Amino acid sequence: MTAFLAGPGLASDRPEPGPDVPWRSDDPHLSGNFLPVLRETTAEDLPVVSGRIPADLRGAYLRNGPNPMFKPIGFTYPLDGDGMIHAVHLDGGRARYRNRFVRTKGLAVEQRVGHAVYGGFAHPVPPDPKDLQAGDSHVPFKNGAFVNVISHGGRLIALNEATSGYEMNPALETLGEWTAGTDQPIRLGAHNRRHPRTGDLFALEYSWREPVLRVHRIDASGTLVQSIPVATAMPTMIHDFVLTERYIVLVVGPAVFDRAAAKAGQSMLQWRPDLGMRIALIPLDGSAVRWIEGDAFFAYHFANAFDRGNQVIVDYVHHGAFGLGSDADTSSTFHRMTIDLTRGSFVTAPLADMTVEFPRVNHRFEALPTRYAYMPTRSSTLTLPDPPAATFNTLVRFDTATGTDARHDFGNRIIGEGAFVPRPGADGEDDGYIALFVYDPARNGSTFELLNARDVAAEPVVVLQLPQRVPQGLHGNWIDGI
Ligand SMILES: [Fe+2]
Repeated sequence: MTAFLAGPGLASDRPEPGPDVPWRSDDPHLSGNFLPVLRETTAEDLPVVSGRIPADLRGAYLRNGPNPMFKPIGFTYPLDGDGMIHAVHLDGGRARYRNRFVRTKGLAVEQRVGHAVYGGFAHPVPPDPKDLQAGDSHVPFKNGAFVNVISHGGRLIALNEATSGYEMNPALETLGEWTAGTDQPIRLGAHNRRHPRTGDLFALEYSWREPVLRVHRIDASGTLVQSIPVATAMPTMIHDFVLTERYIVLVVGPAVFDRAAAKAGQSMLQWRPDLGMRIALIPLDGSAVRWIEGDAFFAYHFANAFDRGNQVIVDYVHHGAFGLGSDADTSSTFHRMTIDLTRGSFVTAPLADMTVEFPRVNHRFEALPTRYAYMPTRSSTLTLPDPPAATFNTLVRFDTATGTDARHDFGNRIIGEGAFVPRPGADGEDDGYIALFVYDPARNGSTFELLNARDVAAEPVVVLQLPQRVPQGLHGNWIDGI
């Protein structure tokens, strides 16, 4: 921490034991600020670098991300890792920070033997039987619960893909697999959508073994009340989906699981554009699923969707094809898809000519008409040589009504997803803040920053110094009152 506080340059001039894991990898998504941290720490009264903490904000920004404790034996970004949650709590104009691993069953096995045991999701490696004890998972990859962290029914849940989530307490201690009020853990994805009127949480489960998707409905108290099966042509990976007031919308791009390919040493996840795009509209009134077909594309992430007359509007980040790791298609652009329910067809068109990812809206307006989306992009002020995919330095507020945007350019500092923080007593969709972790390579340190969601280009509302580097992560959320 001394080096972190000492200023630019000194951290590398005077190396000392730091928070980082002791191993290194050639993978760019395990290097730089993607290098995991090992130290779990807590810090009270974070120093204010500039601005002021809004005194009426009470809650926490929690963010998860892949942070493998041991040097991986099969790692593909963003499919593998151990979860680590970084949290900044705000209360009464003061701030505190805490970071903790998600203590999954798989991580417990690896901690017991002192090295990585499980392979990766795209490149599975069966565990060595001598490393396992009775009850340990034999699956050739690990549920690290590293992709997202949400709050539902009064519970904090760390989420992965197509597997169980892990319940955490507000101190970020891992309590165990989330059962959603049933007698066993439920399987669900990382991205879920909450209905604006009922408070029901809709969650998606896909399988790498079977050609079926399942949409779970979990009521506002956190109890699983319904599971809707949806058949597909092949076992299919779907990372995110959207909800409107009337429909669950599954955009089923042809990123499929091919176990024969994995056995031949290729990625288990394969892009099969010949299968085309199939969009499932699942009416919330219980009527039959409707399929709409078109040309293949891929979407990891959706900003939002809403009903508009006989149309469904879907704002999302469009990838021309599916790719992984350093092969990922980085030309990802913000698109609007318009589904015509009368014709049974869709069109999609770019809203902006810039590479973006991790789009977010004000979560209180999810499934309702939204005008603003907030997302990171990369500008020319970032001078890091050959930054890997998912390296961004500019937060964009995009106005879908006018097609214009406002930007906060962090220069040579790196950001990730920005989460919306509603202002207490908020008046309107954009009345609030955008919460971000910002990494400064010059001093190998991070800050927590709030931008004014109505004026992101302005000086940050507050910049807080963090006691250690926060690695690049995936998704997080502001949770009121914790
Ligand atoms: Fe995601």
